[in-house]
Amino acid sequence: MEPLLEEIDHVAIAVRDLDAAVAWYEATFGARVVHREVVESDGVAEALIAVADSYVQLLTPTRADSPVGRFLEARGEGLHHVGYRVADCAAALAAVVAQGGQVLDEAPRPGSRGTLVAFVHPRAAFGTLIELVQEAAP
Ligand code: CO
Repeated sequence: MEPLLEEIDHVAIAVRDLDAAVAWYEATFGARVVHREVVESDGVAEALIAVADSYVQLLTPTRADSPVGRFLEARGEGLHHVGYRVADCAAALAAVVAQGGQVLDEAPRPGSRGTLVAFVHPRAAFGTLIELVQEAAP
């Protein structure tokens, strides 16, 4: 089969203080924030730092009972998920389901930056939360 994962879209890191994390990446690595967004449906605020054609996605909860809020409470700051860029989110999600894998989204849904996304349960993927990311049509 053709490889479905085209690129690392982003590595997502859960942080308690988004501005402090951004300031650290800027001061330490000369990093550049290219996008900020609050995704109310997920209860997160994000800052995207460009690294070549991929991003580091710094995530912080906008409310304590959001998934990222619960993650921070249980696990503390750190790696939250890996986003893989795919041409067709629905097809990649179907491939996971076809292998018997547990998914968190039954169908692709809107993500940040106008993307379509779907999450795969860590239980299906060796302990790593995976986000399948289909870029917005140009
Ligand atoms: Co993500």
